[in-house]
Amino acid sequence: MSKKQIRIAPSILSADFANLGAEVRAIEAAGADFVHFDVMDNHYVPNLTIGPLVCEAIRPHVSIPIDVHLMVEPVDALIPMFAKAGANIITFHPEASKHIDRSLQLIRDNGCKAGLVLNPATPIDYLNHVMDKLDIILLMSVNPGFGGQSFINSTLDKLKIVRALIDKHEANGGQEILLEVDGGVKADNIAKISAAGADTFVAGSAVFGAKDDDGGYKNIISQLKNNAI
Ligand code: DX5
Ligand code: ZN
Repeated sequence: MSKKQIRIAPSILSADFANLGAEVRAIEAAGADFVHFDVMDNHYVPNLTIGPLVCEAIRPHVSIPIDVHLMVEPVDALIPMFAKAGANIITFHPEASKHIDRSLQLIRDNGCKAGLVLNPATPIDYLNHVMDKLDIILLMSVNPGFGGQSFINSTLDKLKIVRALIDKHEANGGQEILLEVDGGVKADNIAKISAAGADTFVAGSAVFGAKDDDGGYKNIISQLKNNAI
């Protein structure tokens, strides 16, 4: 049986912010599939990170897609700004938008792939009625706001349920939807996360904690890909 396509999306939340250009170039050279770009507003989540200006600044340094994860409330005003700054994928948390369908459509109208992000305790029901507008579903396996937290195991059951929803949707002629997982993904747990149905893996501290001397990023990204099934 051929292996499904596995994508690794290093989260630059754990990168060296004083050297972001070099860091994103290094992860692309090491085999990363997406740059995962965590946007936090000190309102929806208790942390504050980076915005469209930083997205625009790193854009010329890589050719892989930039996967913007909006942990902000409200959502809509930032969508065209990130699209203009070179984002390729934009995901948001449904509780943070008053009009989920409209926000998804806004992302697509701005030329980006669209997705919803569900926190560990956010119900899967949010996916009902919008499956046809989703290019990606991101399940949080930690509570959003910080890198370096431990994987929450209840995510595995949730992944299985969402995998089945996506398979059914695709089997009925629906568009392809990626299933991404974010938080606490490491080389020693990616096999069970992938077995539960994920195909796209955010990894922040696992990748950037490896340090790039002696090919550290390449080693960890290859290890993550090899261990996924
Ligand atoms: C958490 C962020 C994650 C985080 C993952 O709110 O959305 O992308 O950076 O970091 P690790 O892989 O260290 O759990
Ligand atoms: Zn994230």
